[in-house]
Amino acid sequence: MKVLLIGSGGREHALAWKLAQSSKLTQLYAAPGNPGIAEHATIVAVDIDDHQAVTAFCHEKKIDLVVVGPEAPLVAGLADALRAENIMVFGPSAAAAQLEGSKGFTKDLCARYDIPTGAYRRFSHAAEAKAYVQQQGAPIVVKADGLAAGKGVTVAMTVDEALAAIDDCFDGAFGAAGAEVVVEAFLDGEEASFFCLSDGRTALALATAQDHKRVGDGDTGPNTGGMGAYSPAPVMTPEMVSRTMKEIIEPTIRGMAESGYPFAGVFFAGLMITAKGPELIEYNVRFGDPECQVLMMRLKSDLLELLYAAATGTLDQVSAEWSDDVALTVVMASKGYPGAYEKNTPISRLPQTSTGEKVFHAGTALKDGALVATGGRVLNVTAMGKTVAEAKARAYALVDRTEWQNGFCRRDIGWQAVAREES
Ligand code: AMP
Ligand code: GLY
Repeated sequence: MKVLLIGSGGREHALAWKLAQSSKLTQLYAAPGNPGIAEHATIVAVDIDDHQAVTAFCHEKKIDLVVVGPEAPLVAGLADALRAENIMVFGPSAAAAQLEGSKGFTKDLCARYDIPTGAYRRFSHAAEAKAYVQQQGAPIVVKADGLAAGKGVTVAMTVDEALAAIDDCFDGAFGAAGAEVVVEAFLDGEEASFFCLSDGRTALALATAQDHKRVGDGDTGPNTGGMGAYSPAPVMTPEMVSRTMKEIIEPTIRGMAESGYPFAGVFFAGLMITAKGPELIEYNVRFGDPECQVLMMRLKSDLLELLYAAATGTLDQVSAEWSDDVALTVVMASKGYPGAYEKNTPISRLPQTSTGEKVFHAGTALKDGALVATGGRVLNVTAMGKTVAEAKARAYALVDRTEWQNGFCRRDIGWQAVAREES
């Protein structure tokens, strides 16, 4: 099979690495790609925002499957453009991508299908949103409705903080994404990420992970795209997984199909495991980054076979096998991230890796033959272990053998799970 992979981050490097292991793969192309992805794929200069250019490339090369990594091309309708030309694609339609693109859309679906989630109201005027916050009190959560690069959410511990967040949204801090605001009840519990494939009718549970969103050790400082992750998430016991499938995923698949937006792709459910059980915080319609990296390390099955089944409505004919070992990834980022940071700083050495270890490229480029850091999140240093503690020790040993002056990372990825192992 010939595959075109869309994207250029650590998530796509992990997907490329795993796709390249498939016996069914004959040729892998990637756009825009990065130097890590280039180890497994032919990088092609196709503008992924130009849907016609992408479909023309697919026809020319007789591509059997397009795998879309990030959410932006999905929300922009790339999967629709490909399907309209009878090109198989892994990734939902723009209409189905509203599950990630619009928090209000998802909340309304939850209400109609009785999917457990925090109680909420949608507002398009500040005064009404503020009155609601005053009436509900704190803690309370204020969210810009649209895509705001993970920055549109304020978990307000006081009413004043919530009121300020409402002003920020309506004053345009998140652009068009803040034209509508969702105010939501605060959910108390432990967070986990759950991944599940869907072909529009059938669900295939993948695996669980936990992310570390804050930039600093001990979960301090501003939110980021994710500073590290591990899989599996210990809080997701077999009982919690089966409840999540039954109470959250299955009604979502049914609801999307009945609404006329059948969902084919991967559900990335952000969950809060509260005293009542799993509750939905949000859906993403793509793999998590860096959660994908740890999932791919643990996946024993052929990824291409799974993604092709999700794209072609044959998910009931495949199954996914996972290593029982833990995978853990540490994100190395440019100093200053998630704020401003210097670009094109030299990465003078990447560590040698052995089986069960991998350094994924997230924001790198080659300049005059030398590897440089071009992004905020730059490397995903990943290792497997029998325990979280072992995976963590191996990953940090790789970090310590990486030479990149302008890089930094958290030193405590996996701390909650390690504490759990020790107790
Ligand atoms: P989101 O972009 O919706 O994933 O929200 C970002 C982060 O805010 C989540 O990962 C949670 O840590 C937190 N959060 C969002 N909604 C809630 C909620 N209802 N209760 C508590 N924390 C929340
Ligand atoms: N790591 C969180 C995300 O991909 O949204």
